[in-house]
Amino acid sequence: MEYFTTTSAASRRASGCIIIGIYKRGNLSIGAADVDAASGGQLSKLIKRGDISELPGSCTVLTSVAGVRAQRVAVVGLGGKSGFGVSEYRRAVSAAIAAIKTTKSEDIVNYLALENVAGANAYYLARYATETIGNALYSFTQMKSARKKPSHKLRKIGHAIASRGDAAKSKRGSEHANAIVEGMTLCRDLGNLPANVCTPSYLARTAQKLARQHTKLETKIVNEPEMKRLGMRALLSVTAGTIEPAKLIVMRYKGAVRQQPVVLVGKGVTFDSGGISLKPGPGMDEMKFDMCGAASVIGTMATVARLKLPINLTVVVPTCENMPGSHATRPGDIIESMSGKTIEVLNTDAEGRLILCDALTYSRRFKPALMIDVATLTGACVIALGHHRTAVMSPSDEIASSITAAGIAADDRGWHMPMGEEYARQLRSNFADLANIGGRDGGSVTAACFLGKFTDGIDWAHLDIAGTAWLSGARKGATGRPVPLLTELLLSRAGVLP
Ligand code: BES
Ligand code: MN
Ligand code: ZN
Repeated sequence: MEYFTTTSAASRRASGCIIIGIYKRGNLSIGAADVDAASGGQLSKLIKRGDISELPGSCTVLTSVAGVRAQRVAVVGLGGKSGFGVSEYRRAVSAAIAAIKTTKSEDIVNYLALENVAGANAYYLARYATETIGNALYSFTQMKSARKKPSHKLRKIGHAIASRGDAAKSKRGSEHANAIVEGMTLCRDLGNLPANVCTPSYLARTAQKLARQHTKLETKIVNEPEMKRLGMRALLSVTAGTIEPAKLIVMRYKGAVRQQPVVLVGKGVTFDSGGISLKPGPGMDEMKFDMCGAASVIGTMATVARLKLPINLTVVVPTCENMPGSHATRPGDIIESMSGKTIEVLNTDAEGRLILCDALTYSRRFKPALMIDVATLTGACVIALGHHRTAVMSPSDEIASSITAAGIAADDRGWHMPMGEEYARQLRSNFADLANIGGRDGGSVTAACFLGKFTDGIDWAHLDIAGTAWLSGARKGATGRPVPLLTELLLSRAGVLP
């Protein structure tokens, strides 16, 4: 996709389609007012007749509007003008692109970027719109025998700007969004692929391929024999029931000299059957998404490498399957983790924390300036926050706040949940140093506390994406979250936000 900016009035710009909007009670957006004037009031007439809906989420595509150079005009409902914020803006762009992608438009110009959107400048208006459009054009057809090519013809996206002074910001917004979409697309593809294709080895090959595409990126794979030498028995206990080999993927991006890296650790359980503590049947297919933490950190790496950010970033992905079998770990088994701490595995379905604890211990060698793990860790997180917010947990309120702030800026939001010794106590075991479950109560928090036992002395946060990584039902599929949130944090650290 190519990107551009324009200061031309909506009616004067030749293109496949322009996007304009109407607020409640026929109140016209800046672009719509211009189109209305140029067409001798055609737009107001259609609105008055009730032929154009002003309801949020609706879009009417007009063709051959008099006095307008664009081939098509997409008119979207914007709702109330005073409450027009980031989510309303994105909803409007999303309604427009849903209608436009069925047309033959090759280039579009977003005139909604001229509107007053609470809390957004030219950079974010271009970024949000470009990201929304990129994600709306995503389709996953790899596994269909027909392998249909995308039907849309869109090649160029433009954003209107009020003055030339906004051009650089708008362009940078699109450039960043383009890279974010690339990372989200990779993340979504990996998530959507079934577990018989997207195995730990497949994830490892994907990471190696990415390293071949970017000179500043190196990928190393730690295999099971080396895991044994390193003492990663917690990770190995999870993979014990499957013949599919486990992998520890280590990706190192060097965009800065002599700077401690940010380390992102992603849970890569390519299928979570629960193991001997087998999950119930209904919906078990969705446990192919249990590697979405891994997919999101690999996706974020793709974004960072594409943007050549001047930072150091390390991605660590412990990946395996969780299957029952005659060699599988049993409830009650006690294992020694790489850290030396012993763990009583009371439930083999609490496997994410077992692979993560060894990955967190391993990551100490990188002396992280900040370490964040991302995991579809607990069903309890979905109960607590639903599918809208990622749970953010950290022993440091300051780190948690910086993450929730990045989530707001990226419009990929999180919510700060507590941690603390009173919760950690639930993990006490009669036989080992700690148990791998802390009971039903506060399940997401005790899971975070478990991980916290392996991050002493490191600036660390944990993101539980169990509710946000994928959608169920008719729109079943990976969302690409939290690539935008993680990228926002890194863009900010790189000092490249306007
Ligand atoms: N991958 C699951 C968490 C999960 C469940 C994410 C449902 C999204 C939807 C994780 O490995 C798991 O099974 N967690 C258990 C932990 C429990 C045994 C303490 C859970 O949440 O039930
Ligand atoms: Mn599980
Ligand atoms: Zn799991």
